[in-house]
Amino acid sequence: MSKELILSRAEKLIKARVSTYDSGHDWWHIVRVRNLAKIINEKENLEEPFLVDLAALFHDFADSKFNGTKPGEGYEIAGRFLAENGMENCHSEITGIMRNVSFSSRKTPVNKDDSLLCIIQDADRLDAIGAIGIARAFSYGGYRNNIIYSPVAEENSMSTINHFYEKLLLLSAMMNTETGKKMAHERHVFLEIFLDQFHKEWNAGSF
Ligand code: ADP
Ligand code: NI
Repeated sequence: MSKELILSRAEKLIKARVSTYDSGHDWWHIVRVRNLAKIINEKENLEEPFLVDLAALFHDFADSKFNGTKPGEGYEIAGRFLAENGMENCHSEITGIMRNVSFSSRKTPVNKDDSLLCIIQDADRLDAIGAIGIARAFSYGGYRNNIIYSPVAEENSMSTINHFYEKLLLLSAMMNTETGKKMAHERHVFLEIFLDQFHKEWNAGSF
């Protein structure tokens, strides 16, 4: 079976699956992560392009935020897809990405020899910072009905602005690849500019 056919079948499967996710995790997030992963891989020349495409497509397939009642289902469906398309040899790599790419596993540094995970994780992190990252954070905050911000510390702990300090501002220093680090810089600076302006306006200081 040709790689193009496998990728187009995978696209169809993933598009349908993420249609129930919030707009920050929708099909266009998958497309952006795939493009970013391709750019990183082209610069660093680490992995076979087809595997990078497939891993990017599947990276959010078993996201626990959206598969609460059936945590194992994503792995089963992905495994079946790979088997049906003659891709059993990629099974552990693809499910490894699904298991290890997400925010909760970001606290443990990635094994730098796992170049596929390094690429997909960097691509996913890049999409969580910069202008797109800001849009996604407020989309997710709205989906969860979280407050934007509060000057009262206890209330602010659940706010979307707090998420910037707890996670988003830490991501640029956690990039795995040199290309990822370079690409993260501009997006990180943009987060800082946004937060400066946000606090300035909150304190009525922008005139
Ligand atoms: P991944 O896509 O790797 O699974 P997450 O699902 O944790 O990573 O995060 C995806 C997006 O959702 C990111 O853009 C992140 O900023 C946003 N997000 C996650 N948790 C929160 C939160 N508590 N408040 C606002 N945005 C959040
Ligand atoms: Ni993702």
